[in-house]
Amino acid sequence: MADYILGIESSCDDTSAAVLRDGVLLSNVIASQQVHKDFGGVVPELASRAHEQNIVPVVSQALDKAGITAQDLSAIAFTRGPGLLGSLLVGTSFAKALSLSLDIPMIMVNHLQGHILANFVREEGKPVEEPAFPYLCLLVSGGNSQIVKVSGPLEFEILGQTIDDAVGEAFDKCAKLMGLGYPGGPVIDRLAKLGDPDRFHFAKPQIPGLDYSFSGIKTSLLYFVRDELAKDPDFLEKNKEDLCASFQKTLVDILMGKLIRAAKETGIREITIGGGVSANSGLRERLVAEGKKRRWHTYLPAFKFTTDNAAMIAIAGWFRYRAGERTPLDVAPVSRIADF
Ligand code: KG4
Repeated sequence: MADYILGIESSCDDTSAAVLRDGVLLSNVIASQQVHKDFGGVVPELASRAHEQNIVPVVSQALDKAGITAQDLSAIAFTRGPGLLGSLLVGTSFAKALSLSLDIPMIMVNHLQGHILANFVREEGKPVEEPAFPYLCLLVSGGNSQIVKVSGPLEFEILGQTIDDAVGEAFDKCAKLMGLGYPGGPVIDRLAKLGDPDRFHFAKPQIPGLDYSFSGIKTSLLYFVRDELAKDPDFLEKNKEDLCASFQKTLVDILMGKLIRAAKETGIREITIGGGVSANSGLRERLVAEGKKRRWHTYLPAFKFTTDNAAMIAIAGWFRYRAGERTPLDVAPVSRIADF
């Protein structure tokens, strides 16, 4: 008999549900919340309320699209954290209620491990190239920037991570500073394609080991823009493409520098990227180019699996389900990775 896993993701501002049959994706429904647009960032209270409204229709739609009913499910995988606590509570409580009512197990998933395993999401009739273990994943999102060694679907070791801001935050905060709107990453990416990446130069942080820091570059851009605006009030409007291209190139240089070092230190040549920022075209191009130069095997997740989605939670849960993991009903969500 086939195993059907329902995945539920509600860690930030996307409510998502997905269904897998024996590890193959049947549906992946995402309701993105629009209420945050006017605030220039996610408002936690509004996010929880929107999840509460979205969760039932999103799960129903995922089951319908998969052509099954809730009674067919074998288990429920849900995001336990890290993320916004109020948002996580909605998905966790829903998973508990469904698990109790259907008398099926639930399996907690670390959101970041979901991103890291996104390359394993298989769709019917679509060939997918899976990385071989052990591999390195550059995990880059709005909340995290890490280099993770993945020795198996349940074995993760963080080799380096940001000591302050995440790279997605740097994209978002700097886009806001340039008046480009939220979320900033996709806008900067689009404008960067039209600009000269070597026109402006920003100082890169000197952080030991495999850790990152992105707060300095934000300050560097802030002061640079302030000084230029004092000389020419139209500076931003006239130079936004070159500014975005140069800023993006600096971030990609920083990310790739440590990734190259991690590959050299570990001798691992299987390299993947994950998380929202892995949608960035500059980063994807650079990863492929470095991979060719260094004879790495590189794997890029499909765009639809780079940002928050339940398909990645379902696949991470599927691995744990097969390994016999079950989560007790008294589990509570956690907001920070350190508490996971
Ligand atoms: O993984 P994600 O959807 O949410 C979490 O943080 O968990 O990542 C969101 C982040 C935001 O900072 C957004 O600006 C960034 O991913 N992002 C991008 C691009 N698309 C999304 N950053 C750079 N270039 C992009 N194309």
